[in-house]
Amino acid sequence: MLYFDERRKWVLKAEIGREFHTDKGIVKLGDLLGKRFGEAISSSLGYSFKILRPTTFDLVMNVARPTQIMYPKDIGLIILKLGLSCGSRVIEAGTGSGAMTIAAASVVKPHGHIFTYEANPEFARIAKQNLMRAGLISYVTIKNKDARTGFDESEVDAVIIDLGDPWDVIPSAYASLAGGAPLVSFSPTINQVERTVISLRENNFVNVSTVEVILRPLRVEPGRTRPTTTMIGHTGYLTFAQKSFSAT
Ligand SMILES: C[S@@+](CC[C@H](N)C(=O)[O-])C[C@H]1O[C@@H](n2cnc3c(N)ncnc32)[C@H](O)[C@@H]1O
Repeated sequence: MLYFDERRKWVLKAEIGREFHTDKGIVKLGDLLGKRFGEAISSSLGYSFKILRPTTFDLVMNVARPTQIMYPKDIGLIILKLGLSCGSRVIEAGTGSGAMTIAAASVVKPHGHIFTYEANPEFARIAKQNLMRAGLISYVTIKNKDARTGFDESEVDAVIIDLGDPWDVIPSAYASLAGGAPLVSFSPTINQVERTVISLRENNFVNVSTVEVILRPLRVEPGRTRPTTTMIGHTGYLTFAQKSFSAT
């Protein structure tokens, strides 16, 4: 990752002959080869850019975005609540840009796998490119398929739903999950949450809970530290549940 300041940082591929143009001058990407993370490189205008190791957060935030993406503040809790770890087999409905897929794949690799369903062929194509750029495509199968027709996998460790109508896929999610295994559904509106929770209860899911994750960044200046003026106000609500074999 090329870093100038908090606002100007980019995940790029170091390649001979390629240039990267910024308002602080041109950086020759071939000159990055042979340098170590932590070192700096000068632009054509003499500005210093730091070469940092991109984290999963940076990979997620740098995806090409034809759709809304899941944000790191939500993804972090999802990974913990679903108990994802190396070896987990996961179904995802609504690949979108693949931001959530990148985060999940980076946790389940090298022995686990993400089976992700996307109805729109163009979004599936861009998500594939994003996953290739992140070096994670071998841990992911992108299925250009309507999730409402059902999932092909069984006994999976977790299901992630990011669709406008999550209740349409809850019976299929139940059928594909291992007993006791968790599910998450992400929805921007309260109306969607209510309908999702009703459907989860009707389909023998238990331990149902909904949260909104709010993240407030701080601007730290000696003697003047305070929250930043702008922040991400709302992304969506997260509803978690686990598969039970009986509702009682
Ligand atoms: C908000 S986006 C998902 C974003 C994704 N979580 C990310 O982090 O990049 C929702 C996606 O679900 C897809 N979608 C909607 N209904 C679908 C369905 N029935 N089956 C499969 N994909 C569907 C849309 O095309 C869209 O790409």
